[in-house]
Amino acid sequence: MSTSITLTRPDDWHLHLRDGAMLSAVLPETARDFARAIIMPNLVPPVVTGAQAAAYRDRIMAALPEGMAFEPLMTLYLTEDTDPADVAAAHASGLIKAVKLYPAGATTNSASGVRDFDKVRGVLEKMAEIGLTLCVHGEVTDNDIDIFDREAVFIDRVLDPVRRATPGLRVVMEHITTRDGVEYVRANDRDLGATITTHHLIINRNHILVGGIKPHYYCLPVAKREEHRLALRDAATSGDERFFLGTDSAPHTDANKETACGCAGCFTATNTMPLLAHVFEEEGALDKLEGFASKHGPAFYRLAENSDTLTLVKQNAPVAFPAKIDTADGPVTVFDPGFPVFWKTA
Ligand code: NCD
Ligand code: ZN
Repeated sequence: MSTSITLTRPDDWHLHLRDGAMLSAVLPETARDFARAIIMPNLVPPVVTGAQAAAYRDRIMAALPEGMAFEPLMTLYLTEDTDPADVAAAHASGLIKAVKLYPAGATTNSASGVRDFDKVRGVLEKMAEIGLTLCVHGEVTDNDIDIFDREAVFIDRVLDPVRRATPGLRVVMEHITTRDGVEYVRANDRDLGATITTHHLIINRNHILVGGIKPHYYCLPVAKREEHRLALRDAATSGDERFFLGTDSAPHTDANKETACGCAGCFTATNTMPLLAHVFEEEGALDKLEGFASKHGPAFYRLAENSDTLTLVKQNAPVAFPAKIDTADGPVTVFDPGFPVFWKTA
């Protein structure tokens, strides 16, 4: 007997598509299941101005295979030199849906990020005024702060002060990985949301480190202790509108992952929806999947929900997802949950 569920078509509220050959290879993996995605601007060089975002949007649309529908929701990369007027114009024209804050040095291609938060006060105030969302990579980068504590410390030292100093600023804490992140969102108002990735609902830090180092489970923020994974599962499956899906699918070639200093990022675009069906079923919360993947995100971003649907079907035998995606730069490994998955998209 097969079970199936049909959802309003989902969106991905945090996605890395890259550029060039990588973009062409990974874009169909997302466009197959998702109608829209918030596109991360951490290219080299980063997408900083409205003109750069418009050009990147055109490259994405040019890479979309014939017959596929997909809407990239563009973002700008916040730097200490970002011009509030350029941000406001890009928002007013409908081009961008968010601005992304990377603390300098926090993750892949974040060298142009923010060091001195006083220097971006003008942009943040303009964003609060026009209702434009700030997406935040919530980790401090201080050498003396343990990597497993960097999210919790960021909330206290940076996020909370910035939010207090900028009333009305709408903030999404991207890819939260801790109970602290979940609790901070729950304790605050409707101007604060959080994305949760697929992989952080599945792995904890043991998966990365026990029995040999697993480079394909290494991402930033790094997966934490089991108690934090359980807090994320509780938030994602709770039906609370402030939590929604942002896969943070972040492709790197195997050559760049399986090396002495491997890149951070899990590539989950290919199998995210089946994995989420598995997780939500395991939690007895399949009825909450549509909210998490298809409804809470548009509500936060004040966009219409998608009008078409996606159906997931449960098979009697485990589904064989591709282990790798081929790109002209080399293969990219698809996230392996480490357990059999019976769900697939119809
Ligand atoms: C992302 C990437 O590779 O661009 N990597 C990751 O581990 N998530 C950057 C990011 O979102 O931190
Ligand atoms: Zn990311």
